[in-house]
Amino acid sequence: MKKIYMRTWLVVAASLVIVSCGSNDFDTDGGGTSVAVGSCVYDETRIKEYFVRCSGCHGSEGDVAALGVSRPIAHMPADELYDMLLQYKEGTLNQYELGGIMKGQASLYSDEDLKGLSCYISEM
Ligand code: HEC
Repeated sequence: MKKIYMRTWLVVAASLVIVSCGSNDFDTDGGGTSVAVGSCVYDETRIKEYFVRCSGCHGSEGDVAALGVSRPIAHMPADELYDMLLQYKEGTLNQYELGGIMKGQASLYSDEDLKGLSCYISEM
C-alpha cells in the first residue's frame, strides 16, 4: 500500500511541484492530486512566468532590495510571504512608503496564485 501511494505521489510530482511548507501531512488517501492544508501545490511553469514580473524589481534570484528599499524576499517563509502579499493586495501594507507599488503588483493575481508565488519564492 505504501508503495502504491509513493508511485501515485511521483506521478503527481511529475506534473506539479509539491513543496511541503514546514509540514509533511500530504493527503495520504492517494486518490487525487489534492494536498492537505499546510502544503504547497502550484504549477511551476506558470508561477515561474509570473515571477519574471517580480524579478524586474526583486531580482531573478529574489535577492535584490526592490527599488533600494525592500528586504531580499528569497527564502522567506511561504506563510509570511503570502500574508504580506495579501495585505499589499488589500492596500493595508506599506512598509517603506512604497506599498502602493506592491498593491499594483499583488492585485494582478488571484489569492491562489499569490500563494503559489509565496511557495516558489520561499524555495528559491
Ligand atoms: C516595480 C517594482 C516591483 C515589482 C515588479 C514587484 N515588487 Fe515587490 N516590492 C517592491 C517595493 C518597492 C516593495 C516595498 C513596498 C513597501 O513599501 O512596503 C516591495 C515589497 C515586496 C515584499 C515585502 C518585502 C519586505 O521587505 O518585507 C514582497 C514579499 C514582495 N514585494 C513580493 C513581490 C512579488 C511576489 C512580486 C511579483 C508578483 C513583486 N513583489 C513585484 C517593488 C516591486
